[in-house]
Amino acid sequence: MTNFRFTQENLNRIENEIKKYPVKQPAVMAALWIAQEQNGWISGEVMQEIASILDMTTEDVLGIVTFYTMYHQKPMGRYHIQVCTNVSCMLRGGYEIFDQVKQKLNIRNMQVTEDKIFSLEEVECMGSCGTAPMIAVNEDYYENLDKDKVDKIIAGLM
Ligand code: FES
Repeated sequence: MTNFRFTQENLNRIENEIKKYPVKQPAVMAALWIAQEQNGWISGEVMQEIASILDMTTEDVLGIVTFYTMYHQKPMGRYHIQVCTNVSCMLRGGYEIFDQVKQKLNIRNMQVTEDKIFSLEEVECMGSCGTAPMIAVNEDYYENLDKDKVDKIIAGLM
């Protein structure tokens, strides 16, 4: 028993994911994503609840959570900004953008602003190399960026 409970709607979504496979466990990534949408991050209680639903151990769920960077292991800001610094983005100013966002928000990698509005994460390739450099704010991608565009994106969120 844990204190985290999925909403009925989200339980139905997980049930639909489970039906796609002959066994329950492959639905773990979808279940974690749904949990993160509901809870904001993947707490120990979230992992316990998912493990119980999918007949897994909590350690198995933890293994997935720690392997994939898209799952947050602590509460992040309302706007979670991911800055790609992998090769294509790096060659087109990814690190400059990462530094720009750090300075603008006065936080470092994986930190959250005091007002809990923003958090920042340096990430590996997000699959938008052809439109590098790019950042993601929650699930929205912003591409072909320069310093002015980044300033405008952040100002639009403040
Ligand atoms: S290198 Fe940045 S999106 Fe691929």
